[in-house]
Amino acid sequence: MSELFDYIRRWINYDPETEFYYKHFPSLVETAELVLRPMRRADLKSVAAIEQAAYEFPWEPATFRDCFNVGYCCWIGEKAGQIVAYGICSVGAGESHVLNLCVAPHIQGNGYGRIMLEKLMEIAKSYRADSMFLEVRPSNRRAIKLYQQMGFNEIGTRKDYYPARNGREDALIMARTL
Ligand SMILES: CC(C)(COP(=O)(O)OP(=O)(O)OC[C@H]1O[C@@H](n2cnc3c(N)ncnc32)[C@H](O)[C@@H]1OP(=O)(O)O)[C@@H](O)C(=O)NCCC(=O)NCCS
Repeated sequence: MSELFDYIRRWINYDPETEFYYKHFPSLVETAELVLRPMRRADLKSVAAIEQAAYEFPWEPATFRDCFNVGYCCWIGEKAGQIVAYGICSVGAGESHVLNLCVAPHIQGNGYGRIMLEKLMEIAKSYRADSMFLEVRPSNRRAIKLYQQMGFNEIGTRKDYYPARNGREDALIMARTL
């Protein structure tokens, strides 16, 4: 049923003129504004495709479905109607946990990761979370830099948390108050 609603919503929002310009002048997509909105079931396929492109060890599509079904905060960022980023966090008992934050590879480094993380923090606060936690690979210097800039501090490690080429990789645990 929700897929039917998604279809109707897309049909109502469909703007052939805009679509024409974005198709024939792709550079316009780059300058299009990033629009954030809650994820819909119909987005799951595109989200899983970005995940495959962005991570060496991506989540399975079923993991996204589970996060969506369980009611975690799942948001996407789109430009010119194309999904280019997503962020997922859980909130409960005054704490929030970033489960995934990702920007499509071709568009990384433009400030969208920061915008998505700010959104997750705003949502977590609105659900009365007073702290936010996340795990990150020590090898993911780009993400660590973003988290540090956003006020996250390293508070510990989780041994052998991630799969890695040579076995497992520890996770850094980072946190900040909201
Ligand atoms: C990590 C990620 C979400 C950051 O999003 P992004 O849109 O690329 O990053 P932003 O443009 O918002 O940059 C924010 C900050 O990240 C850091 N950063 C971004 N690109 C960087 C690069 N190439 N090298 C080093 N630091 C970089 C910088 O600190 C930057 O702030 P600054 O521009 O003021 O210096 C994105 O790169 C990504 O999706 N990576 C793959 C998935 C992933 O690793 N997710 C995190 C899992 S914990």
